[in-house]
Amino acid sequence: MTDNKKIYEFKVTKLRKRLLHWYDSNGRSMPWRVRSNICPNPYHVWVSEIMLQQTTVNTVIPYFIRFTKKWPTVFALAQAPLDDVLCGWQGLGYYARARNLHRCAKMIVEEYNGVFPREIELLKKLPGIGDYTSAAINSIAFGKPANVVDGNVERVIARFFSVKEPLPGVKSTLKNLAFGLAPKTVAGRPGDYAQALMDLGATICTPRKPKCSACPLLKYCMGARDGLASVLPIKKKREKKPWRKGTAFWISSTDGKILLRKRPDSGLLGGMMEFPSTPWSDEPGSPTPINAGLPISDIPHTLPGTVRHVFTHFRLELNVAHLRLKKNIHCDKIVWCAPDHLSMYALPSVMKKIAHHATNNL
Ligand code: ADE
Ligand code: SF4
Repeated sequence: MTDNKKIYEFKVTKLRKRLLHWYDSNGRSMPWRVRSNICPNPYHVWVSEIMLQQTTVNTVIPYFIRFTKKWPTVFALAQAPLDDVLCGWQGLGYYARARNLHRCAKMIVEEYNGVFPREIELLKKLPGIGDYTSAAINSIAFGKPANVVDGNVERVIARFFSVKEPLPGVKSTLKNLAFGLAPKTVAGRPGDYAQALMDLGATICTPRKPKCSACPLLKYCMGARDGLASVLPIKKKREKKPWRKGTAFWISSTDGKILLRKRPDSGLLGGMMEFPSTPWSDEPGSPTPINAGLPISDIPHTLPGTVRHVFTHFRLELNVAHLRLKKNIHCDKIVWCAPDHLSMYALPSVMKKIAHHATNNL
């Protein structure tokens, strides 16, 4: 090893120690974390990591507690009906995660007798588990060295090394730089190290106004040295999401129940319940309300205001039209539900907004 390399290794070792020391007194407490030398339950780590993708810790905590109370083991989850799991996911969004979680539980039970495989390559073959989640499980649940890089870590690393090239192009560079810092042995507490970086990103090295003066990495941080802490990482401007428009129908039966329909199993919000609507279209000019393909001839009455929701690839603005049926209908895939009982179904957020809008404007 050259002298330069030795000095570098020495500094990196000190930096890891500082970070872990900071984590030991400042790490956040979370229901899936355990504070001792024993490793946490892999099932808990897996469920929490899936929930935490695209969702903040504070939102996840009550969901995680309810979810693991209802399904305390991977066996229990594998046996649950998918609809119940989707219902437990209601409000977390990105429902493909819940479907994959359920499929993955079944595979772990069927192929691995309910025991999570301890190899990254095997973990990555399971549904919903990619680079990030396999590394997180490997380090947090099994205490093995791994390079765990999420959005928080990307930000800390870009600042620490004062990387000025824009995301997303610089992603793989950041990953390599993160790997250079990560502990390579079990003794380096890989799981705590990974979570320490994430907590640092969430509480100190925050997107806006990082608190460098309270940061255990300040002494070595090149972004802070360059006065670029709050500017990095640079992000390429994303295309604005297009708007789509449509009309959703709040259809009430003669006895005041509301019509819900099951969406097709695949695609956006697959398998979830919906209030029927016209197609969500990005064509200019509003589509004619066609009563959403249901055998209904009554005339809908459009309520004032609209409902807006942001999806991954587009934004949606819906009118809500009320239809009071003179004669009830019954057909495939629909259910009638009292407005007070809507919470029994796996209603995605956009549908909850529609229900809220309808009940407030009727
Ligand atoms: N974000 C995703 N996983 C996390 C974890 N284990 N700790 C803190 N933040 C996280
Ligand atoms: Fe982030 Fe500032 Fe810490 Fe550098 S010193 S890692 S910019 S909080």
